[in-house]
Amino acid sequence: MSLNNPARSTVAPTLTVTLPRQAYQYPIYIQPGVLGRPLASQWVRQALPTAARLLVVTHEPLWALHGQPLLAQLQQAGFAVTVFAVPQGEPTKQLSWLQAVWQAAQQAGLTRQDGFLAFGGGVIGDLTGFAASAYYRGLPFVQVPTTLLAQVDSSVGGKTGINCGPVKNSIGAFYQPKLVIIDPQVLATLPHREWTAGLAEVAKYGLIEAACTGQAEIHLWPLLTQCADREAVVAQCAALVGQCCRIKASVVQQDEFEQTGLRALLNLGHTFGHALEADGEYTTYLHGEAVAIGTWWACVFAHQHDTFTPLQAVQAVWQQLGLPTAPWGNHQPERLLKAMQQDKKNKAQGGIMLVLPQDPLGHAWVAPGHRDKTVLAFLQQQLALAPNHIE
Ligand SMILES: NC(=O)c1ccc[n+]([C@@H]2O[C@H](COP(=O)([O-])OP(=O)(O)OC[C@H]3O[C@@H](n4cnc5c(N)ncnc54)[C@H](O)[C@@H]3O)[C@@H](O)[C@H]2O)c1
Repeated sequence: MSLNNPARSTVAPTLTVTLPRQAYQYPIYIQPGVLGRPLASQWVRQALPTAARLLVVTHEPLWALHGQPLLAQLQQAGFAVTVFAVPQGEPTKQLSWLQAVWQAAQQAGLTRQDGFLAFGGGVIGDLTGFAASAYYRGLPFVQVPTTLLAQVDSSVGGKTGINCGPVKNSIGAFYQPKLVIIDPQVLATLPHREWTAGLAEVAKYGLIEAACTGQAEIHLWPLLTQCADREAVVAQCAALVGQCCRIKASVVQQDEFEQTGLRALLNLGHTFGHALEADGEYTTYLHGEAVAIGTWWACVFAHQHDTFTPLQAVQAVWQQLGLPTAPWGNHQPERLLKAMQQDKKNKAQGGIMLVLPQDPLGHAWVAPGHRDKTVLAFLQQQLALAPNHIE
């Protein structure tokens, strides 16, 4: 992986994800304001050298906000662009919309030489990537992530897919993009809740950096401690996003298909988080909000088991970033425990698997087999601290 270290420079970083299989490589470009410049379409041309047609999948309001400059550049570069808008929200990640994307590709006359471009958050990236993976048995696609969560997480790593009934991401494929273009400037219009949800993933990366990269030196957490408010985060955004992508790229390069356990570290906070999401019927929390609470709980749990000391430092960063530490939904500890037992990522035999931070900060491990009664007691304790808890 090559990289300008964003922690040391204000120059926009460029990363390369190099996968051992088939020596597959793709660049991630991070440049504020790039979507309005010819550079963006030049990158797309380099990534899709044979493409005459491009199907852009996006949401209408988002495209109205940020799409026109990129459209103009792509057209100038000679692409025949068809824009296909799908509704906003998680329910769009379903079979009928996947089929609608394929029909739009047919109507746009896409051939095996052409490509897809995902312009949006994780919903658009997951749906478009999966559509591209199967159209004519796989057409190239480009990711242009526009939410913080998608810029730091979902656009890198090649997980694509849709939901099937209530089961999230159960149908999908590992399918890598040809290129990722990240313009942090588009985040200026991101609604507050979406911003906070993305920050939760950034903070999570801060807690697992050393474990993921195998290097003792950490960059992301020190950067985060300097971010007193949203304005400060915005000022550091290219560096923060670059560092998160660097960590994710490092993990994906070592464990693309989640086989060695390394990729599992990315699920810090997610076992608690998924349980909150499921128990809140996927309407109470955004994914990142549940991850923020789940990651905090993982830190408290590890602290109580004497494996993670710097809880106060984590609390300070959570406060600075405005991340939640307690749930606001109506939960029962027993229901949360059941949801944790049923989590598709809980592979431990006879207990609950948790990814936990450990000393020194930046390290984490996959801790198997926590006894149900230990986890239940912890959930009871944490729910009792929630502001709207009713005995
Ligand atoms: N593939 C992966 O590795 C991976 C990882 C994490 C999450 N995910 C998936 O990502 C999805 C969540 O993604 P998300 O959090 O990006 O949500 P999202 O894609 O639903 O986007 C959130 C909302 O923000 C709007 N929006 C996007 N960019 C904007 C901008 N710049 N300004 C204003 N509004 C903007 C969108 O139109 C949408 O309404 C989930 O489906 C989750 O399963 C995938």
